Amino acid sequence: MYVEREGGRLETTNQERRDPGQAEARILGHVVQCDGSRATISAFVEGSDGTADQWAVGRMISINLNGIRTVGLVYAVDMADRLWEPATRNQIKVHVELIGEVRDIDGRSVFDRGITAYPCIGAIAHRIRARDLQAVFDLGGRPSVQIGNLSQDEKIEARISVRDTLQRHFAFVGTTGVGKSTAVSLLLRKAVAARPGLRVLILDPHNEFAVTFPGQVERIDAHSLDLPFWIFRLEELVEVLYRGREPVVEEVELLRDLIPTARQMLRGGGHPQLRRASDAGGGITADTPVPYRIQDVLRLIDDRMGQLDAKHERPFLRTLRARIDSAVNDPRYRFMFQSRLVEDTLHQTIGRIFRIPHQGRPVTCLEMAGMPGEVVNSVCSVLARLAFDIALWSEGKFELLMLCEEAHRYLPADQRLGFAPTRHALARIAKEGRKYGCYLGVVTQRPGELDPTILSQCSTVFAMRLANEVDQDIIRSAIADSSASSLSFLSSMGQREAIAFGDGVATTMRLKFERLSPAFIPGTQKKEMSGDPDGTEDPDLLEMVRKLRNLPRETEQADPFAAEPPAPPRPMDPLQQRPSSAQQPEPNLYGRRAYDNAPGLFRR
Ligand SMILES: Nc1ncnc2c1ncn2[C@@H]1O[C@H](COP(=O)(O)OP(=O)(O)O)[C@@H](O)[C@H]1O
Ligand SMILES: [Mg+2]
Repeated sequence: MYVEREGGRLETTNQERRDPGQAEARILGHVVQCDGSRATISAFVEGSDGTADQWAVGRMISINLNGIRTVGLVYAVDMADRLWEPATRNQIKVHVELIGEVRDIDGRSVFDRGITAYPCIGAIAHRIRARDLQAVFDLGGRPSVQIGNLSQDEKIEARISVRDTLQRHFAFVGTTGVGKSTAVSLLLRKAVAARPGLRVLILDPHNEFAVTFPGQVERIDAHSLDLPFWIFRLEELVEVLYRGREPVVEEVELLRDLIPTARQMLRGGGHPQLRRASDAGGGITADTPVPYRIQDVLRLIDDRMGQLDAKHERPFLRTLRARIDSAVNDPRYRFMFQSRLVEDTLHQTIGRIFRIPHQGRPVTCLEMAGMPGEVVNSVCSVLARLAFDIALWSEGKFELLMLCEEAHRYLPADQRLGFAPTRHALARIAKEGRKYGCYLGVVTQRPGELDPTILSQCSTVFAMRLANEVDQDIIRSAIADSSASSLSFLSSMGQREAIAFGDGVATTMRLKFERLSPAFIPGTQKKEMSGDPDGTEDPDLLEMVRKLRNLPRETEQADPFAAEPPAPPRPMDPLQQRPSSAQQPEPNLYGRRAYDNAPGLFRR
């Protein structure tokens, strides 16, 4: 049932960009059906004149109604008889979702979400004016930065509010290669420029981000990381000592006992007897970040082994001692155990990693490719924990964004995967960080594998191309406003394109991120810097083997523990043996490790 109105019966509309020679009937459509949120428009298109383009899926159109222009988003187009006649006018049906209304107020176009007056049958529909389109995405005076242009009209800037995007956490989702990392680095550069007090800590699993912040970045890799072991909480230390495997409960309990004593010994001058009475207990636990010496722990273990009543503990003490020895002497853990002097250097560590003062470099890249999985687990946990606490105690003077690339590894949907302390520390930022100025940014190609509560805390989402049905459904359920049908484009969007929705934008927006020069694309310089872009030369075999062994260069190879000579190498490392089934801890005490299931995730 179409109401065709042609020629002279048309209302006059002052559209922009209308070619005066073009007959109005060709570019105008008429509403033929409408319900609470959607409408169907009947229009005519001809093969040759390009008018079909304005009715294409993804375009916005407007419907005139007594001074109000109702904005609709085309989500489907079809032809009644499905027969295309190239020589004549073809009638098409255009299905739109109504997303809001534009009014002229004091000569300005003002957009409002929600529909106050529904279009009547026969109301005129046409291509949206550029001014109205701009009004739809106008942030209403909120400070904003441009991150690209609208997909529909490249002349219109795509702007987001940096404050709202950061403060309420954000997420980038999309298949590998669509440009997530590039887009997120673009956003971070703009955010740092717009908010000079902001610090950014990037958990960078592929060592690709540093090149995109020239002159603004502090790079921390396996060799330059300095995170003393005494900052680690018991469960984080255990993750390192047990190399990501299930710990032996008895040994963990011994450590829980011994570490507070060792902490007290250092404060009391090195002897258990010299502990100050006021320190007895003293509020120091195995988790308090107060320095202690590993030698003291080893000495306490030896003392305990010598005690007569320690018969049943002795095997545990022995393996615990071997475990600590082997971790301390492992070159991969130098970043924890390298300081010869056990000093309270917490402020230096924090100052460097969290950029206080930032000295013009507010961004820290934690380059984790090449770090063993259990190190990544513990380090991320320590840093996420410190980030929240520092923001909390700075009383609003410090603003920090923690960006997690490949966030599904730290925040998996399956609670049994991942490292529980990291997950808790990041979840705490997601849930409460906003109040203290600690924000979370997550980037993932598998939103289906990301903890759904984290995604629901991200108030701004940039959804790029997603091929997987499950992942699409997750994003669809996250979008609450009326423009949900724009997500039907998720599977077909081009590179650099994203649908942005949530607090950081005015209305769900389909945009194209700025095209960046290769120097600013994460990871590209690494390939270029290798000096052999064509890959004709053979790689340096010796260097590869050295990295494989994880050994520092000859000159750096010094005994990290001068006071305590390293134990001679054992013919067979007892640590490699799984504990017998009798010693098996309860399952899931410390969580199963994602890294166990997918070996090599963090390797180059
Ligand atoms: N904004 C952009 N400007 C220019 N090239 C881009 C842009 N975004 C993505 N690309 C291209 O796409 C490739 C993959 O982008 P990347 O950000 O690494 O994707 P992802 O992180 O989603 O896997 C880049 O190497 C680059 O060539
Ligand atoms: Mg990437």
